Amino acid sequence: MNDRSHPPADLSRAPGWVRHRKLLDWVGEMARLAKPDRVLWCDGSQAEFDRLCAELVDAGTFIRLNEKLRPGSYLARSHPTDVARMEDRTFICSANKDDAGPTNNWVEPTEMRGTLARLFDGCMRGRTMYVVPFSMGPIGSHIAQIGVELSDSAYVAANMRLMTRMGRAVIEHLGEDGAFVPCVHSVGAPLAPGQADVAWPCNEKEKWIVHFPETREIWSYGSGYGGNALLGKKCLALRIASVMARDEGWLAEHMLILGLESPQGEKHYVSAAFPSACGKTNFAMLIPPAAFAGWKVTTIGEDIAWIKPGPDGRFHAINPEAGLFGVAPGTSESTNPNAMKTLRANVIFTNVAMTPEGDVWWEDMTREPPARLIDWQGREWTPGCGRPAAHPNARFTVAASQCPSMDPRWEDPKGVPISAFIFGGRRSSTVPLVVEAPGWEDGVYMGATLGSETTAAITGKVGVVRRDPMAMLAFCGYHVGDYFAHWLKMGKAVTRPPRIFRVNWFRKDAGGRFIWPGFSENMRVLKWIVDRCAGRAQGVNTALGMIPRYEDLNWAGLERFERSRYEEIARVDGKDWGEELRSHDELFGKLAGHLPAALESRRGSMHQKLVA
Ligand code: GTP
Ligand code: SPV
Ligand code: MN
Repeated sequence: MNDRSHPPADLSRAPGWVRHRKLLDWVGEMARLAKPDRVLWCDGSQAEFDRLCAELVDAGTFIRLNEKLRPGSYLARSHPTDVARMEDRTFICSANKDDAGPTNNWVEPTEMRGTLARLFDGCMRGRTMYVVPFSMGPIGSHIAQIGVELSDSAYVAANMRLMTRMGRAVIEHLGEDGAFVPCVHSVGAPLAPGQADVAWPCNEKEKWIVHFPETREIWSYGSGYGGNALLGKKCLALRIASVMARDEGWLAEHMLILGLESPQGEKHYVSAAFPSACGKTNFAMLIPPAAFAGWKVTTIGEDIAWIKPGPDGRFHAINPEAGLFGVAPGTSESTNPNAMKTLRANVIFTNVAMTPEGDVWWEDMTREPPARLIDWQGREWTPGCGRPAAHPNARFTVAASQCPSMDPRWEDPKGVPISAFIFGGRRSSTVPLVVEAPGWEDGVYMGATLGSETTAAITGKVGVVRRDPMAMLAFCGYHVGDYFAHWLKMGKAVTRPPRIFRVNWFRKDAGGRFIWPGFSENMRVLKWIVDRCAGRAQGVNTALGMIPRYEDLNWAGLERFERSRYEEIARVDGKDWGEELRSHDELFGKLAGHLPAALESRRGSMHQKLVA
């Protein structure tokens, strides 16, 4: 396709619509360092996207799916070692180690810059460097931020077009001197002259995902997958944005945003933080059960929320993303019909299985698996062969505008007012279905001590409980104790702070089965939450906060779910909570000097109420 023996083209040549001196200089400087064969400025057009996809098909990275069954869609299979975020390779390089805190990996910035200079020297040889300008949030929104990602991966450029507002319009908005976050990404697999490329280039030996919070820079090396490589998402919209938010008085959170509208037209927006692969996408697109005629859930976002105090004394939230990068396995007509509709066309699938007809399949997409498949690694697969057909962290990339449940205001630059914050995680025991914190500080304690069983969204062991404060363990760009202090402070930045709730869809019975039916039935909990915000619903006060009694929830259409089953998942057990508090202590114990007094005293009173 490209003759690599040619001398490098004029790397400094940029299209006429780029008038930003600093941007031009930086791109030139990075090209001299990484030494790509070509530099391509992305304009974000459909024609450009189609060209990128065609090149990816030629290169063997993309397989074009059956045009009738899955129009405009592609399958990518990653290298088997490059399948999820790598938290142990993610670094926050603040000037002082203490500013990164005990939950982040830290390397001294000068030392890290030395490492990066070595890694990036010539790392794009034989490849194209794509210049990908993108806006997180509607272009021009006062809550939006602009980034420019330089990447040697066409897969990244194509995904960024779906995930962000990408291209020429962003550059034009930047003008001659607008601020942008520089993001540099390489798969770390330079090609020698004449060397054949592989379908999924990456660096099998080393991977680095590096953030400089003070200078607001991102450098990523060695991986082409998801949050490691699509730098607008976790790196900018959470790790760097959390630092901006601390400095400027707002919140950048790992949260979905949804709207709930009653048959009478009363509308509330809520924002919910669940750790990776714990159901944000499902919850954000919920379709209420039949018994809730006239109730409607709409989607603003399903992974990230940027939240600012508004002039009306409430928090207003935007979704900084323009696309979904969602977990495929488990997604089906019964668990998430809105997602299935979203995925009918124009999707990039990564690491799912392929049917003989050239369509996609993943675990639990249908009740019966197809008789024959090609698995996510390109091997023959039959049911019962002992291997999963799709990787458990297989994902789809698709424009949010294709999702039928998107709220009419999802691109409103002002954002939507938030009535409640919800924290949730996977807990097979201990944590009740839903509980409302008595007040803001109790709610911050609840979020700060959030625990969840780990999932395939990160490399490492699956199913172990760990503390994941506000679902931000892997995404807070500074000291987590200071982050708690920031949350406490933000409660005072608005006159009408949202109520705070904790939910748990994942409690299991003695046989290891989920007790709560979940998915659309979560509507019953959501309605109670919104009714609490409107001052309508009741419950019983417990040591944790208010919990609905059986009779406080609407059971129409779910009468088979008995009161005794409900009591199992609403139970707060003193012995379990004794252990739970010890594990809160473990987290708090690491925060020496940064643990806000309000949280420390909450811990004391919780202990008294629950264990004494
Ligand atoms: P990231 O994109 O990784 O940040 O995660 P997410 O929170 O958006 O994850 P997603 O919604 O894709 O979570 C998918 C997983 O959660 C699948 O395994 C689902 O089966 C499971 N899940 C979602 N909702 C429920 C529920 O109500 N009950 C149960 N038991 N599982 C659920
Ligand atoms: C997550 O892991 O929380 C994700 C997927 O949303 S990734 O973009 O890969 O981080
Ligand atoms: Mn996420």
